[in-house]
Formats: sequence, structure tokens, C-alpha cells
Amino acid sequence: MKPLNVADYRLAAKRRLPRGMFEYIDRGTEDEVGLRGIRSALDATRLNQHVLNDVSAPDTSTVIFGETLPLPVIISPTAVAGLVWHDGEVQLARAARAAGIPFCVATQSMTSMEDIAAGAEGANLWFQLYVFEDRGLTRDLLRRAKALGIRNLLFTADTPRSPKKEWNTRNGFGIPIKPSLAGGLDLLTHPRWSLAVMARYVLTTGVPTYAHYPPEYRTSITRAAVWDNVKLARRLTWDDFAEVRREWDGNLILKGVLSPADAERALSLGADGVVVSCHGGRNLDSAPMALDALPKIADAVGGRMTILADSGIRRGSDIVKYIASGADAVLVGRATLYGTAVGGEKGAKGVIDILAEELDHCMAFTGRSRLSEITRDAIWRP
Ligand SMILES: Cc1cc2nc3c(=O)[nH]c(=O)nc-3n(C[C@H](O)[C@H](O)[C@H](O)COP(=O)(O)O)c2cc1C
Repeated sequence: MKPLNVADYRLAAKRRLPRGMFEYIDRGTEDEVGLRGIRSALDATRLNQHVLNDVSAPDTSTVIFGETLPLPVIISPTAVAGLVWHDGEVQLARAARAAGIPFCVATQSMTSMEDIAAGAEGANLWFQLYVFEDRGLTRDLLRRAKALGIRNLLFTADTPRSPKKEWNTRNGFGIPIKPSLAGGLDLLTHPRWSLAVMARYVLTTGVPTYAHYPPEYRTSITRAAVWDNVKLARRLTWDDFAEVRREWDGNLILKGVLSPADAERALSLGADGVVVSCHGGRNLDSAPMALDALPKIADAVGGRMTILADSGIRRGSDIVKYIASGADAVLVGRATLYGTAVGGEKGAKGVIDILAEELDHCMAFTGRSRLSEITRDAIWRP
């Protein structure tokens, strides 16, 4: 049956993907308080309904970093997109291209930024940076992104440790993938994925790897050891951010900001934007919800830098709630991954189309025709 909403895509993805991989994408960390909190914060936010406004010609477009986007949506960087479907990152980039929105390539993607650019010619690509222990390798990534014409760089700063995902330890899935009995059974019971994704990789390009790691350090995702140089930096400070600012002449956006003070500091160091994000409930389980943190950050730096936000977007109304709380545009992570897992480019595009349609509906019910009309007073206060 045709999926009618993101939840339908999620269920279809759950059936298709090995359990360990589905849980890696879907779940949170520790007690998953953060994951539940994201949803309840969004659900608890009610929107004012206004009637008899002319909403016959809605416009969901916006300008982000000088570019007009038909929707205020960017596809988030997600490390394993290339594992949910064969060439998953290329599929996502093509879906983004078809929708006219950007796709942000992750440092830890399975396909390199060059191959994604070649496979989805004309796609609007951004790049997400994780800083390696070896800063020379980081500089190399910046050079490559620039050479490809990428203008927008997300500097992810909210992962100072590998988060504690206990269920991942139990279900045997991790990156790098380690062979286990549970993992083997998981593959056998999900033959569609095992054949269409993993077997296809093995028979063509080999077991997938982190494509941006230099060949001399690259380890197959089935092998545990990763050289120290390509471990994510354990000591990552504002000096590193300032250093990247000196080296990157495009737009620099700090991802993982949840406090006005951090947003102010990023601005003072020359950031062009921030992503207000609790990383989809995947990092600090006790973090505040991005939706709750957003208004104060918007009050502090709004108008002086671009404010993006993410975490938990599953409905068009969620986009409206983030915009009403101060975001210029949102990032979507899991929703489009579910779509990719179900149908590659077509599935991801299906999810974007649903979000676009729901956004239009929500704007019409709330009596707003343009994104600029979605202001703080769109949120109902009892
Ligand atoms: C499977 C998965 C992998 C992710 N990998 C990264 C990553 O490598 N870098 C990063 O900055 N964010 C990463 N994220 C976080 C997303 O960019 C985004 O902040 C988050 O998914 C938003 O929440 P949502 O999934 O509820 O939309 C990942 C998220 C998921 C679900």
C-alpha cells in the first residue's frame, strides 16, 4: 500500500532493513528520554487556526544563503545513508535535486562527495565536517569540497564522544560492522536488503567503507580498527572552529547549538549560521529540545545569522512549529532515510512531497500564505 505519511515509510523501512541497522537509524541513546522529549515538545506545541484569509496562492519558498529554495528544507547529513539502499547517498542527492532542495553530504558517508556529485549532477550539495584527529586530513576535505563548488559547510560540534547506544551493543550492529551470530541472522531474515544492498556492494565495489577516509587509513566497515588519525577529534575547541573559519571562504554553519551563548560565540568568530539541534536525540540524552531552545537563540542572533534547526520532523506542521519558533529553514534526517530505505530516490522524494503537501495544508489552516508570515504568534498560548 502506498505510504501516506512519514510513519508509513518508517514502518516499511523497519520491515525492509536488518533490525540492527533500523535501530541504528531510528533510535536514540541511553534511556531515549531525548527522543521521546523531541516528539512530545512538537506535539505539545499547538498552532493558532485562522479562518477566511486568502490562502489560494501559497508560497513555501525561502532564501537561504542567497539561494531561493522552493521549500525551507535541507536533507541532513546522516552517516549511513549509503547502507539503507545501494548508493543511498546518490539516491538522496537525486531526490533533493528533483525537489530543488540541498542535500548535505556527511563526512562519514559511504560514497565520496565527488561520486555523489557525479551521480546526481546538478544537485545542490552541502558538506558536513567532522574534524579528524589529524587536522591535515580535515584540511584536505575542505579543499575537496571547495574544488567541487560546495559553498555551505556544516561544522558538527555536538559529538565529543561516541554516544552510548546500549541497544546497538545488544543487537550487534555498529560502525564498523563486526561479524556476529545475531548480525548474520539479521541478514538472513532480511534477504531483500542483503541481496539488493550488501550483496550488490560486495559484488561491485566491495564491502562499503567510509569513503572520505584516505585510502591509506580506510578500513572496511566490517573491520574494527580505525587508525588514530581518522578518529574524530577528542579535543575539539573554539580554536578549531576559528581555524576552519580561516580556511573556508564559503558559508560556515555550526551544527549542534542549543544555547544563545554558543550561538553568539559562533557569530563573533565569523559563523554565517547555526543549526539548533539536539541531533535527533542521538547524542546527549538530557539535552534540551531544539524546539524549546530555539526562541532564545533566535532572539539573541536572529537577523544577524541564518538559523537552521532540526530534530524530530515527521510532519509539515513540525516544520511550521520550527519556523514559528525562529528557524529560517529546517533539516530533515530520519524521515528521508526511511524513504530511501523503502525506495531509493523515489522513496526519498515521496517523503519530501508528503512534507511539502502537509506544510501547505498546515499553512492554509493557520491562515498563512508565506513563510515570513509564520511568526511567533502562530503558536497558540493558552
Ligand atoms: C543514522 C543517522 C546518522 C547521522 N549521522 C550524522 C553525521 O554523521 N553528522 C551529523 O552532523 N549528524 C548526523 N546525524 C544527525 C542528523 O544530521 C540530524 O541532526 C538529525 O537526524 C535530525 O533529527 P531527525 O532524524 O529526527 O530529523 C545522523 C542522524 C541519523 C539518524
